[in-house]
Amino acid sequence: MAKYRIAWLPGDGVGVEVLDAAKIVLEKLRLDAEYVSGDIGWEYWRREGDALPPRTIELLKNVDAALFGAITSKPAKAAANELAPELQRNALVYRSPIVRMRQLFDLYVCLRPTKAYPGNALNFKEGIDLVIFRENTEDLYAGVEFGPVPPELASTLTKLSKRFCAFAILAPDDYAISCKINTRVGCERIVRAAFEFARKFGRKKVTVVHKANVVRATDGLFLDRAKAVAKQFPDIAMDEANIDAMTMWLLKNPFNYDVLVAPNLYGDIISDLCAQMVGGLGFACSANIGDNLAVFEPTHGSAPKYAGQNKVNPIATILAAKMMLEWLGETEKAHAVEGAVAEVIREQQVRTYDMSGSNTTTEMAAAIAAKL
Ligand code: IPM
Ligand code: MG
Repeated sequence: MAKYRIAWLPGDGVGVEVLDAAKIVLEKLRLDAEYVSGDIGWEYWRREGDALPPRTIELLKNVDAALFGAITSKPAKAAANELAPELQRNALVYRSPIVRMRQLFDLYVCLRPTKAYPGNALNFKEGIDLVIFRENTEDLYAGVEFGPVPPELASTLTKLSKRFCAFAILAPDDYAISCKINTRVGCERIVRAAFEFARKFGRKKVTVVHKANVVRATDGLFLDRAKAVAKQFPDIAMDEANIDAMTMWLLKNPFNYDVLVAPNLYGDIISDLCAQMVGGLGFACSANIGDNLAVFEPTHGSAPKYAGQNKVNPIATILAAKMMLEWLGETEKAHAVEGAVAEVIREQQVRTYDMSGSNTTTEMAAAIAAKL
């Protein structure tokens, strides 16, 4: 029996080719693992009405980790229109499978390192090395949404909130409500994860990202719990910033920041900003970590327009595989992969289209594997 059992979840679009690329690297490392393919993605939504079928959920209960590619996500109505004719009547609602996986398995830490590898012509500035801790299960991603708004909800809100009266006069389908739900436990555990990481890896500061001046209940709770947790880490500095100002300051002086921690949606936003500072989504990797399972993925989406062209940059996924190796405790192998990626980037000999080159996904993976 292999030492590790890894769920292999390519998804669709370019997810398939970037996972093939990661396989080239993992095979070169001779990781003692069994890779078990799982059905997930747009095709399963269309054919079965479920992009994350129960058999895949069962698989995820019995693996050490998962590597995930990407999945096409569309707004609910557009998704329903693409269902097989016999499923159209069932009032099925599409929900992003990666968001479902995060919630089903309580993968509450979304860890997104953004590091400028030296010599990458796409670096916004050399030396950027930020780590994002994004809360991954609640906030505006809670999935509690109403559109049209049920009259029952409207009448309760009218009783509870004066400010709601301005909306109460609207017809149910003239407005919509998405609930931002943040819990005390949810806020505390993501902030604690950020501080523990900072302590373990000698980072100096954790910056709490929020919008507590306006979104007072939920972000107020986040900031309040963050301050309480920070007290338990007197050796690590803490500061805080509003999400809007944060995007500006990050661009202005990324070196003022170190570890960032944010509620789900703000974390999503700064992830893409930080990714662009270190070469774009082709370089941004991500880990969804819970107490019992971790799912690793590139931060990019399924990029349907590039699907099947063997064109996109697989470095993000190869770095996600490197994070998986770290999480499994295969530190040496993880280190070797990162070294190989850094060398290929520095040499600038093999470059995919985003790096102004013409090498394929496979060629990039082969070049990295050749350094191992
Ligand atoms: C991400 C992505 C996802 C998210 C999408 C694909 C649902 O943007 O992982 O950052 O919003 O979390
Ligand atoms: Mg995102």
